[in-house]
Amino acid sequence: MTIVARVDPLNPDEGVIERAAEVIRRGGLVAFPTETVYGLGANAYNKSSVLRIFEVKQRPADNPLIIHVDSLDMLHEVARDIPEEAYKLMSKFWPGPLTLVLPKTDKVPYEATGGLDTVAVRMPAHPVALRLISRAGVPIAAPSANLSGRPSPTRGEHVVEDLYSKVEMIIDGGETLYGVESTIVNLLVKPPVLLRPGAYPVEEIERVLGVRVHVPGFARGLSEAERALAPGMRYRHYAPETPLLLVETDRYDADGLARLTLKVAELASEFKEGKVCVLASKETLARYSGLGAEVLSLGSRSNLYEVAHNLFSALRKIDELGCRVAIAEGFPEQGLGLTIVNRLRKASSRRFFT
Ligand code: TXA
Ligand code: MG
Repeated sequence: MTIVARVDPLNPDEGVIERAAEVIRRGGLVAFPTETVYGLGANAYNKSSVLRIFEVKQRPADNPLIIHVDSLDMLHEVARDIPEEAYKLMSKFWPGPLTLVLPKTDKVPYEATGGLDTVAVRMPAHPVALRLISRAGVPIAAPSANLSGRPSPTRGEHVVEDLYSKVEMIIDGGETLYGVESTIVNLLVKPPVLLRPGAYPVEEIERVLGVRVHVPGFARGLSEAERALAPGMRYRHYAPETPLLLVETDRYDADGLARLTLKVAELASEFKEGKVCVLASKETLARYSGLGAEVLSLGSRSNLYEVAHNLFSALRKIDELGCRVAIAEGFPEQGLGLTIVNRLRKASSRRFFT
């Protein structure tokens, strides 16, 4: 049995939080909203609870989890030898969607870190997540609350779809704010490395650090053949069941977008049988009328927060619509565009350039 409890995300019912905290303390699993995506949480110190996260998600054991803390005191329980740059970033971006890779303490079991001596930590900004950690009194290990490989959940219904009857409790706090996961940075190397682009653009992190952050191929979402392997980065992610084709271009100005939309339309017309789904933007939507395709808008290219916010929902929607194939437009690798195109590349089965 899974308890599903709806809460007001900004002012969550203390009774619900207390009940969920009790589940965590007793070793159970609770899915809860954060400002990025929903997380599937367990007491980070409890090895068997942490192992159950991997089982429930069908997640490979060497793909490490993120540990969520509610305070700097709790951070110091899980991480040691924290570099000065980390404090710079934390004072600017915490609580919020920034995850830092730091040396782990002995309190953190290797089950949570995929056998690594480092731990990925963040302090979430969502009232439900923060209250839950505080009431539980322990750090909460939580990957995204989807089945491994599926798009990350941005609404309570997505979590119910993937995890109902597999976990003790799901807290439904409605739609999440950012809709994409936290930005992950490793400060233990010089220059710092972006491990995953996320809700905070890497440029903002560079501005605060005053140095360039290295962006390796895997953080751009390039395929295995195009990149060196890194922990947790070698699995296909975010993918709808429907094959997804991604069309990218080198310039996203009027010219580039004209070429890109032409290529999308050409690909769409190649599929004669079954419905074709197009993931467009507000600016390009109209160019696909008359194709007979199911066209979804992710939002405006001039407001990438909107596009990021809608992305995972749209990837789930493609499957619901029963399309034979889906075709998505690319985005430039700047700001949140890097985060969006990383997810699209990882979700896609084929990429085209024009
Ligand atoms: O926004 C988020 O970060 C969400 C919410 C729930 O907080 N969580 C999330 O977790 O996206 P997950 O499990 O889907 O992603 C965790 C990723 C791993 O796949 C891995 O790439 C990286 O974090 N990671 C964790 N520990 C690491 C470590 N010690 N070294 C390098 N990368 C690590
Ligand atoms: Mg995930």
